[in-house]
Amino acid sequence: METREVFSSPSPSFQPHLSEAEFKLLQTLVYEQCGMHFDERRSHFLEDRLVRRLKARQLSSFYSYYQFLTTPEGKDELALLLETLTINETSFFRNKAQLDLFHKDVMEEILHRKQERRDWTLRVWSAGCSRGHEAYTLAMLICDALAYYYLRNPLPFEMPVPRPLVPPPWKVEILASDISYSALRAGEEGNYSEHEMEPVNFSYRMRYFDKAGDHYTAKKAVREIVQFDFHNLKTDFLPQRNDIIFCRNVMIYFDEAEQKRLLEKFYRCLNPDGYLFVGHAESLFGLSERYRLIHRDNGTAYQRIEVVE
Ligand SMILES: C[S@@+](CC[C@H](N)C(=O)[O-])C[C@H]1O[C@@H](n2cnc3c(N)ncnc32)[C@H](O)[C@@H]1O
Repeated sequence: METREVFSSPSPSFQPHLSEAEFKLLQTLVYEQCGMHFDERRSHFLEDRLVRRLKARQLSSFYSYYQFLTTPEGKDELALLLETLTINETSFFRNKAQLDLFHKDVMEEILHRKQERRDWTLRVWSAGCSRGHEAYTLAMLICDALAYYYLRNPLPFEMPVPRPLVPPPWKVEILASDISYSALRAGEEGNYSEHEMEPVNFSYRMRYFDKAGDHYTAKKAVREIVQFDFHNLKTDFLPQRNDIIFCRNVMIYFDEAEQKRLLEKFYRCLNPDGYLFVGHAESLFGLSERYRLIHRDNGTAYQRIEVVE
């Protein structure tokens, strides 16, 4: 275990051996950096990615790779390693029943409550957004919900023509965040293949996308509502004052202690009476008592419980 091995280049047929101690060191480093926990079931995945990075870096031992990662020069490599460990699987309109609950019930309740208070800003955060499908799905559903709301409750003034996606005086801000830079870049570009667009019905495609060649691009007006940014959910400095947080299929990669910490942080990141949406296979049961479960037609959400002091 010598640091000078960092600069030696192994032969192409080199098959590095990962000892248990080295695995533990790297597993702990990854956990401390991003909260992802690789238990026995997922240790092969971590091992496979470590081997790839070790070879790409032309290092001869995992200990030297670990040492490199913990130096200031290894910062970019650490970001790259975390990137190769993320699972970016996502899709438009994922978990339809839950989105129906969001679109029909939660949006209606929030718009009504906010309008009464003359608070015209809606802040939504897609935490662990991957390549943007979730954030753009939310943008479409929010614009739709706003249009439908004002069809039934007309504004006291003429709407400008052409009608903006977000009727004034409303301001909608959707923050889409991730730790994968390549996923964030893809989200910002907003280009999706025909195959990816399958769950998007034709009327949504026509209203919110342009078609160029064999792919679709989110329209400029939609991209203006969604802001992509790097945020590591492991840190304490997370975006505040959100009305709604979507964090779906992210906590599943964290262990229980990290999930509990994250739910505490989300509580503080939400406005009073704000909503949290988690993935289909995720639940807050046994993790936090600070949210109430809302369940309707197979869709679930959690609402922040306000404590009366
Ligand atoms: C399976 S995708 C889920 C995407 C989307 N939320 C959905 O449900 O379709 C999980 C995403 O979480 C991100 N992620 C993992 N750990 C993270 C962390 N510590 N901070 C922020 N994002 C993280 C990954 O990079 C990945 O893009």
